Amino acid sequence: MEKEMVVGLLGFGTVGSGVHQLIEAHQDELVHKLGRGVKVKRVLVYDLQKAREVQVNPELLTNDASEILNDPEIGIVIEVMGGIEQARNYILRAFEKGKHVVTANKDLMALHGPELQSAALENGCDLYYEASVAGGIPIIRGIEDGLVPDRIESIMGIVNGTTNYILTKMDDEGVSYEAALKEAQELGFAEADPAGDVGGMDAARKMAIMARLAFSIPVDLADVEVQGIEQLALDDLQFGKQLGLTMKLIGRAHFQDNRVELSVEPAFLPNTHPLAAVKNENNAVYVYGKAMGETMFYGPGAGSLPTATAVLSDTVAVIRNMILGVNGKQVIAPRFEKVLKEPEQRNGQYYFRLQVQDRSGTFTVIASLFNKLDISFERILQNPVNESDNSGLAEIIVVTHQTTLDRIDAAREELEKTEVVTGVKSCFRIEGGLNS
Ligand SMILES: NC(=O)c1ccc[n+]([C@@H]2O[C@H](COP(=O)([O-])OP(=O)(O)OC[C@H]3O[C@@H](n4cnc5c(N)ncnc54)[C@H](OP(=O)(O)O)[C@@H]3O)[C@@H](O)[C@H]2O)c1
Repeated sequence: MEKEMVVGLLGFGTVGSGVHQLIEAHQDELVHKLGRGVKVKRVLVYDLQKAREVQVNPELLTNDASEILNDPEIGIVIEVMGGIEQARNYILRAFEKGKHVVTANKDLMALHGPELQSAALENGCDLYYEASVAGGIPIIRGIEDGLVPDRIESIMGIVNGTTNYILTKMDDEGVSYEAALKEAQELGFAEADPAGDVGGMDAARKMAIMARLAFSIPVDLADVEVQGIEQLALDDLQFGKQLGLTMKLIGRAHFQDNRVELSVEPAFLPNTHPLAAVKNENNAVYVYGKAMGETMFYGPGAGSLPTATAVLSDTVAVIRNMILGVNGKQVIAPRFEKVLKEPEQRNGQYYFRLQVQDRSGTFTVIASLFNKLDISFERILQNPVNESDNSGLAEIIVVTHQTTLDRIDAAREELEKTEVVTGVKSCFRIEGGLNS
């Protein structure tokens, strides 16, 4: 048998401990697939004294990264420590020493992916990052390998487990956003500071990474328009139900006619859409390619062993490249220029919830306003007014036909100025149309 492959782990938290566990438990499978074993020689941690749930030989632990980065025996560095600047610095140092790198770090890849990929190539090294998007789901490999001959036009993803858990609770059990978030925190699905998840930035990072790869354009994180779920009202989810729609935090990346559109926003999907069935903390990525049509990748988007599986899959890919002597040959140069779509080039169907004066003539005013902007309606619903409600106000839901975003923006502005409308309570995109 060939000499075992020696790796160094940067981090021994949720993912790092999972990687160590998998390497130990699946050694026979690794030997069978690779003709050699894999050995963890050193593990970087922050706190050497910390009590750890997953057993590790204390002699492997170090808090000095040089013991990994300068060790000539270590051929692969697995970065699972998180953070940006320090992780970037360690990865660049690993490349300078000719070491290949596997990372799960979406924050880093979204911000510095192209720089790190260039550094890898310059040093003849591999950089793999499957676990940075949707945890254990092999979506990067799916785009890069499985769908490589196709022209991908669209990616829609539920790529944040925390927000999907919260939305599932709100939708299935009718609990408020605040109550659902509290429960997610108690169960460990949401962090004490959930801003990155509920604000949509975590999903935006993953969309930027996927769009870069799928469309071969130089996407920056700032190109992704981001709206979170913090302001979401249960009322909208319930009106959605009446219309046969489910609310999800959807990451969208569209590329058509050499123009790109990137967003993360709460949006409605018809209940029959495959993404509508993705519940709790699960993730899914729906891809539309010109030749392939629709595909969907579904599974656990986080967690110790699922994420470790993706990390180890990358490690196996690096080792196979080493065996074949083809490391550092990934094609990374973008093929197309980046041109973002203007609002008048962005189409969609929209849902409005309006608080209005409950009197005759209100509908006519609203209809003529939409008519003036050349927006037609597909459906209008009125919420029955409670008899004890003396406010003189009512709520109506307007579902438009396909229109452009500039018109929707203009409609919101005009509605706010209209006397019979006392508030535009919400406005959401509907992806995939009403069921009937
Ligand atoms: N958790 C998931 O399900 C998941 C899924 C997909 C991707 N990811 C990504 O995977 C990476 C790791 O996530 P995680 O959840 O495993 O994080 P974590 O549980 O917080 O673990 C981080 C580990 O890195 C060590 N560490 C952090 N900063 C360090 C420093 N400056 N010097 C030395 N050691 C340091 C910590 O040491 P101590 O143990 O001593 O504190 C800990 O062992 C992140 O980039 C994350 O975005 C995570």
